[in-house]
Amino acid sequence: MLRRALLAASASERIRRLVTTTPLARGVVARFVAGDTAEDALAATGGLLADGLLVTLDYLGEDTTDPQQAAAVTDEYVRLLERLAAAGMSAGGRAEVSVKPTAVGLDLPEHGEKTARENIARVCAAAAAAGTTVTLDMEDHSKVEATLRILGQLRPDFPDLGCVIQSYLRRSGDDCRALAVPGSRVRLCKGAYSADPGVAYTARADVDGCYARCLRALVDGPGYPMIATHDPRLIAIAAAKATLAGRAPDSFEYQMLYGIRPAEQLRLARQGNQVRVYVPYGSDWYGYLVRRLAERPANLAFFLRSLASRR
Ligand code: FDA
Repeated sequence: MLRRALLAASASERIRRLVTTTPLARGVVARFVAGDTAEDALAATGGLLADGLLVTLDYLGEDTTDPQQAAAVTDEYVRLLERLAAAGMSAGGRAEVSVKPTAVGLDLPEHGEKTARENIARVCAAAAAAGTTVTLDMEDHSKVEATLRILGQLRPDFPDLGCVIQSYLRRSGDDCRALAVPGSRVRLCKGAYSADPGVAYTARADVDGCYARCLRALVDGPGYPMIATHDPRLIAIAAAKATLAGRAPDSFEYQMLYGIRPAEQLRLARQGNQVRVYVPYGSDWYGYLVRRLAERPANLAFFLRSLASRR
């Protein structure tokens, strides 16, 4: 209930202005976001790689309606990949990038899907030159069809382009079965958005049940599953399924968000697992922050306390 209300409130321009202009919000943001600049992102990446973790970098921004902005975001990814390569961080996919289709044009009033596809292809080419990969983030349910279409159109040229499946959507079991093909990289998460019961599970148990079914399809299949969750129960289920399927540790990976359960990230990596941390950076952090607050009431309480205590 609170989650739905928060996600809905995030669409309000007044609330956005209030939160983003409050200097104190930045303390909370720093917990989840590496910083404003590519330098900040590279510094965080260096630290995580040194700890034996892998990284996927997200240049924050979404819902772009301006073609120039979509091109600028694409340029930022291309430059970032060049810098990662120069710093020796991208080879072998140690640091890769995550791209939101609406940040690179999907929502443009004209030719949105075509623009997003062309911009994503540019990022994929830069990633290939840097020896690494791209994963397409999945946004709200209205973007799923177009995102999977772009994936299907680009995979012949960039077979390691990855995507995300969200277990809160009723369609996701079918999507996982369709995507469980050789070479396919699929990140499985619960989903950070909300949708009507017609398309989405709303009870936590149903979302988790769908997650377990999707896991089975991906782990038993011939692709490369990326298990994105902080949920200890689902991590245990994934580990058991991977063992049963006889998967080698380098044939799948766990993924978690920057700043969330960092000790667990290290524990899993020290057990010999591949663990990738999703590292967002950039100044357009509002939408990302609201989703992290909505996931966990304790985060919201922390945020409100930090505002109140320093007034
Ligand atoms: P759940 O929310 O049940 O949390 C389990 C436990 O994890 C909690 O009890 C708490 O300990 C900890 N935890 C979880 N969230 C926390 C938070 N915000 N702050 C502090 N602790 C927290 N979603 C999406 O819709 N599209 C996408 O492309 C992606 N991409 C993505 C990449 C990666 C690497 C991850 C890890 C997640 C995503 N997500 C996402 C977000 C995902 O859908 C989901 O919202 C969050 O991962 C939270 O769900 P959990 O599976 O962690 O379980």
